[in-house]
Amino acid sequence: MQNKKDILWGGATASSQYEGGYDLDDKGLDTQDCRPYLKRTSDATTATRLLTQEVIEEAKKCQGIGNYPFRKGSDGYHHIDEDIALLKELGIDIYRFSISWARLYPQGDELEPNKKGIAFYDRIFKEVHKAGMKIFLTMNHYAVPLYLVENYGGWTNRKLVTFYERFARTVFEYWGQYIDYFLPFNEINAGYFSPYNGVGLVKEKDKPYNQSLVFQSLHHQFIASAKTIKIARKLSPKSQSGCMVACFCYYPLTSSPEDNLKAVRDEEINQWFAVDILANGHYPSYMDRFFRENDIHLKMEDGDETLLKEYACDFVSFSYYSSSIATVQEDGQQTAGNLVVSTKNPYLKASEWGWQIDPIGLRIMLNKMYDRTQKPIFISENGLGARDQLNSDFSIHDPYRIDYLKQHFKQIEEAIDDGVDVIGYIMWGVIDIVSAGSCEMAKRYGVIYVDGDNLGNGTYKRYKKDSFKWYHDYIQAQHQQF
Ligand code: BG6
Repeated sequence: MQNKKDILWGGATASSQYEGGYDLDDKGLDTQDCRPYLKRTSDATTATRLLTQEVIEEAKKCQGIGNYPFRKGSDGYHHIDEDIALLKELGIDIYRFSISWARLYPQGDELEPNKKGIAFYDRIFKEVHKAGMKIFLTMNHYAVPLYLVENYGGWTNRKLVTFYERFARTVFEYWGQYIDYFLPFNEINAGYFSPYNGVGLVKEKDKPYNQSLVFQSLHHQFIASAKTIKIARKLSPKSQSGCMVACFCYYPLTSSPEDNLKAVRDEEINQWFAVDILANGHYPSYMDRFFRENDIHLKMEDGDETLLKEYACDFVSFSYYSSSIATVQEDGQQTAGNLVVSTKNPYLKASEWGWQIDPIGLRIMLNKMYDRTQKPIFISENGLGARDQLNSDFSIHDPYRIDYLKQHFKQIEEAIDDGVDVIGYIMWGVIDIVSAGSCEMAKRYGVIYVDGDNLGNGTYKRYKKDSFKWYHDYIQAQHQQF
């Protein structure tokens, strides 16, 4: 008999990409508010790699929204009620959103939270709950208060663990009763690929990132994760704690042993190390060699290892958009992907942004992750970033998105039949938001269209795309089967 299962279907946004209102409620400036819109190059992730102190100084001089799309987001700040009503109408079971650290703690190191920030999120938690949706909270989705970056060196400094703990305690004291699932950090392995986004590390001009600082910062985030889980188990005992990585399904380019070994190593260093630490509770042995060969010396405190073991997460989660190619050859044709570039795969089509579309890769990763952790899996992000056309009758026809979703949902079904314990699926950017990689509005994931452009022009009115009805009907049909 076929294994089938009713899972939670959801949609997600992230505060820095959705909210806007960057200077309202006494919110402090954060790292995402300082990322300028840059005309796209072939490497969609260039924007995050160029973040030097000079870029930040320029950003601080700009008083308004200017060329900084995250400051406006999708103007969620002024559309919260309407958006929650639309999500309710869509019929999703669970809404994933994040909290802006700098709205709750504008500098990051204050002893007390900002009351206006509390009031802002209080309304969101209560309204989402009232609308009958479960809550999947990302406590920190990339944005770090700029003050912590400039005055403490971001996550390189262990003091951030203390500041983060304070932030976490506030979140669970106020809203622990509403939280069903939570992630201390979005895509924790981003600290490795995109250190500015992931751990608030500013790039020194013309120099590569210092890998010791990158991994020290990540260690601090691992400890902060464990401490958050400890707090949540006390203040929000019904909530489930998770970890999340950006998932890269690596295929070797050729059948050569060298390419195969490269695929294994790339997966280990790019994603498994974080899963092994947070879900399995310890630093895996393959990291010893990596640290040795890269001259990385981690500073750990007494008790760190016990903490990681005792507060391993309850479920694992990942974002999945495309697969990648691993090879030792250096002359392959490159294409963009989520946070990383990859060699082109001749068997796959790519989105306009170069991300290679591979639904079977999702099934492979679900199987691999489950085998590795034996923990329930939440697909916390997936979707198609595409250019949509708003027609004069306010319709938006997006058959490409429906096709993408259909193909990926089929592979989730297959994975469940393979025996993988999938608990939920969350569509990324269910309401159009600013792209995290390329800082533009033109790359849209939503089933809800937001009428704004890359430079913040537009009405910011919301319109339903064709995929809205399709996703709604799909969810209803799924639940009716059980
Ligand atoms: C994930 C991030 O890496 O990919 C999201 O968690 C991001 O914040 C998503 O938006 C899609 O990437 P992009 O660059 O298309 O926005």
